[in-house]
Amino acid sequence: MAQTGNFKSPKRLDSLEGGAGSSSGAVAAGKAREDSMSGLDFERRSFLGKVVGGIGAVVAASTLYPVVKYIIPPAAKEMKEVDELVVGKASEVPADTGKIFQFNKDKVIVINNGGKLTACSAVCTHLGCLVQWKEDENLIYCACHGARYQQTGEIISGPQPLPLTPFSVKVDGDDLVVSKA
Ligand code: FES
Repeated sequence: MAQTGNFKSPKRLDSLEGGAGSSSGAVAAGKAREDSMSGLDFERRSFLGKVVGGIGAVVAASTLYPVVKYIIPPAAKEMKEVDELVVGKASEVPADTGKIFQFNKDKVIVINNGGKLTACSAVCTHLGCLVQWKEDENLIYCACHGARYQQTGEIISGPQPLPLTPFSVKVDGDDLVVSKA
């Protein structure tokens, strides 16, 4: 009996140890499960954090883009400089008149003085006002401070320091063609 008890005891002990072992195993498994759950939780939170962060970034970008576009003006389009340009029709400058045209970045006044065509810069060299052709005085006049220029742009009188830059002009068919002098 004692032997049996002896035999059983170790078995019981074993089973107890095993039980204890399995109990600690269960605890360990539970911990591992908890760990893996908390790992999953962490991964889920991290993933959600990334999704929310990404959505936030998209919303911020879509909000800021029009604001930035509004604040920063678009780069001015580079106008290609040309040596010669049809600025308009010859009929736009009848005899004894002058008309201002755009030529590259310059404003050019084309004058038809009794059939004699000339062209020069329309920007007064004093302070930059636009000049006009004064048919009655047969000269180019700046109304801002009274500068007077000859039809070809040379100075007659006034405060301007320099003559008007000359350009070339010709009629080609119906076209009025201005070019760099
Ligand atoms: S700007 Fe032409 S005279 Fe002063």
